[in-house]
Amino acid sequence: MHPRLFFLSAFSFYLLSTCSYITRAQKSSIATTGVVMSNGIVQVTLQNPEGHITRIQYKGIDNLLEVQKNESNRGYWDVVWSPPGSTRTEGTLESVTGTICKVIKETQDQVEVSFSRTWNFPLKGKSVPLKIDKRYIMLRGSSGFYTYAIFEHVKGWPSFDLQATRVAFKLRRDKFHYMAMSDDDRQRDMPLPEDRLPERSKTLDYPEAVLLVDPVDPKFKGQVDDKYQYTCELKDLRVHGWICKDPAVGFWQITPSNEFRVGGPIKQELTSHVGPTTLSIFSSAHYGGNDMVIKFKENESWKKVLGPIFIYLNTIPNGKNPYTLWNDAKHQMSIEVNRWPYDFPASPDFQSARQRGEVNGRLLVQDSLINSPANGAYIGLAPPGDVGSWQRETKQYQFWTKANKEGYFTIKNIIAGEYNLYAWVPGFIGDFKNSKIINITPGIKINMGELVYHPPRYGPTLWAIGFPDRTAAEFHIPDPQPKYANNFLLQGPNRFRQYGLWNKYSELYPHQDLVYTIGESNYRKDFFFAHVLREADDGTYKRTTWTIKFRLDHLNESGTYVLRLALASAHQSNLMVRINDLNNDPLFSTGFIGGDNAIARHGIHGLYWLFSIKIPGSHLSSHGTNSIYLTQASNKTRFQGVMYDYIRLEGPRSSTVNKIS
Ligand SMILES: *[C@@H]1O[C@H](CO)[C@@H](O)[C@H](O)[C@H]1NC(C)=O
Ligand SMILES: *[C@@H]1O[C@H](CO)[C@@H](O)[C@H](O)[C@H]1NC(C)=O
Ligand SMILES: *[C@@H]1O[C@H](CO)[C@@H](O)[C@H](O)[C@H]1NC(C)=O
Ligand SMILES: *[C@@H]1O[C@H](CO)[C@@H](O)[C@H](O)[C@H]1NC(C)=O
Repeated sequence: MHPRLFFLSAFSFYLLSTCSYITRAQKSSIATTGVVMSNGIVQVTLQNPEGHITRIQYKGIDNLLEVQKNESNRGYWDVVWSPPGSTRTEGTLESVTGTICKVIKETQDQVEVSFSRTWNFPLKGKSVPLKIDKRYIMLRGSSGFYTYAIFEHVKGWPSFDLQATRVAFKLRRDKFHYMAMSDDDRQRDMPLPEDRLPERSKTLDYPEAVLLVDPVDPKFKGQVDDKYQYTCELKDLRVHGWICKDPAVGFWQITPSNEFRVGGPIKQELTSHVGPTTLSIFSSAHYGGNDMVIKFKENESWKKVLGPIFIYLNTIPNGKNPYTLWNDAKHQMSIEVNRWPYDFPASPDFQSARQRGEVNGRLLVQDSLINSPANGAYIGLAPPGDVGSWQRETKQYQFWTKANKEGYFTIKNIIAGEYNLYAWVPGFIGDFKNSKIINITPGIKINMGELVYHPPRYGPTLWAIGFPDRTAAEFHIPDPQPKYANNFLLQGPNRFRQYGLWNKYSELYPHQDLVYTIGESNYRKDFFFAHVLREADDGTYKRTTWTIKFRLDHLNESGTYVLRLALASAHQSNLMVRINDLNNDPLFSTGFIGGDNAIARHGIHGLYWLFSIKIPGSHLSSHGTNSIYLTQASNKTRFQGVMYDYIRLEGPRSSTVNKIS
């Protein structure tokens, strides 16, 4: 049993200013001090009617938020948006500023306040065409508060692109120095924001990454600071935040469900970083590129509830180890997860447990003749679409789970609506989709029975490089250049997040590109994790061609061979495949693909791509060695390149293998 940290003796909610229906126009004539929610444990002050959080009082600390920042820049919702037709990921940052404040609920157990804004035509091009209703909830006896928002685009409103939606908290930099986001290597004392200033740091290959040259605390000297070293896949992004050691206070952002985030379970987002900043990102183009920008058509009706998320505050008595606050935050996270879907949000747009449904079943994989349970498969419900469409799906809700060893799965608490069931299985290439449209209605339980995934398979595997799991993690991840090494990342599971690994390729392969020989090479050691460009002495970036060498003892000249190229990431790349002759036209090119920027952002993957390339037996040779040449031909900028997930050559189909795709 984990002890509760707080016991409530007295309880009272009060709203310092009655905020009902105060509009911006009225505001000038009414002195407003803000809205205060308090339950005797935590006291939160909100600007009226903007709805920005200006103050969080807790454990005798007058404000956990950065008092030196403008009141509208301490705890707030914001969006990044642009006119329609964006091809990149940039837009205008707009703070979500309420114009009307309303008390939605005020009882002995709960207070819920709304700060909403809408849009009208004179604002065209100047403000994001969305109706946004921000909500804040405080419960009796709860050490924290909840926030969620209802976003809506209505008929009659213009088209636009939405690059990001988030909630941000800027904490007191004189108090919060220790950041935690995982049990492994990523929890530690952090540099100060001023350490990133030009006089104390050197900007590296892009502005987010700096080398700390003269940090206030010399122990950080020589480290790289880059917020992308702290990103996380959504499936693991449940709790992160900061610890103040004196007095011992933790500030945590807990996300009890991923249903309202976009892109599926392995989409990566930012968490916390130097500031001290804590973010909750609901959608962004990070590790996905323009495909993840939400594009709204003129007149498109759309409504989505983002959140609630929980801001959890904790403490322990003086003299106790403040780092244990992380363990308590994880414990609270599991409480919040088990409480999902919450029964207290007052908006009818948030579906309660009884309005939701459930799907269960079992997934098997049949690869050529082998039939096995889809052990550890990722199984999800997402809006109806093509095979694999969920990873670029940005507008609706998704519900994911992992199958057990036997392939059984249950997905609970699915919001009413229409879906397809999708899956992918570590160890197998490709994507599963069940063609049936699943209609979730309140209280329904649908048993899908046994589903069978037939992954792409033409003929027997002649050889393979890597393990198909949508990441490049199993390949050779070099040690960083010593001048950029962050010790805390050196040994652990996040070694691939070291800064500057892309430059190591030119160091390891100064003149000749990578050659991988089947039967001799070992992909853990001899296959560089990212197919990047080579930096030349004149500062240009040269195309690189990797060679896979292999022998074929029994060539079938009239048969067809199939090369499976599974990519874990692509950034503005064109990958070309040639067989045995580098001067020939490519047998295959991917065309210009990708914009996930995963190489620069230290992701071990971005979006997943699978290419299947037919190689006529007549292109191959049974005398001596065959070579497959992989050329990444786009070389305008530093970070163009791909990461491989898995490469496989299949031989001609024989009569015993009848499953093809
Ligand atoms: C705070 O920010 C708001 C919005 O950007 C601005 O209008 C206001 O002048 C700022 N206040 C101070 C004190 O800087
Ligand atoms: C959007 O709706 C308005 C008003 O109903 C109509 O005039 C306009 O043609 C519609 N635009 C599109 C692209 O359908
Ligand atoms: C691109 O690579 C080619 C071949 O390596 C090289 O000749 C060319 O200069 C490179 N272009 C740029 C802009 O670096
Ligand atoms: C060679 O491939 C062709 C075409 O797939 C097939 O008909 C033939 O049986 C194969 N020959 C051998 C010896 O496997």
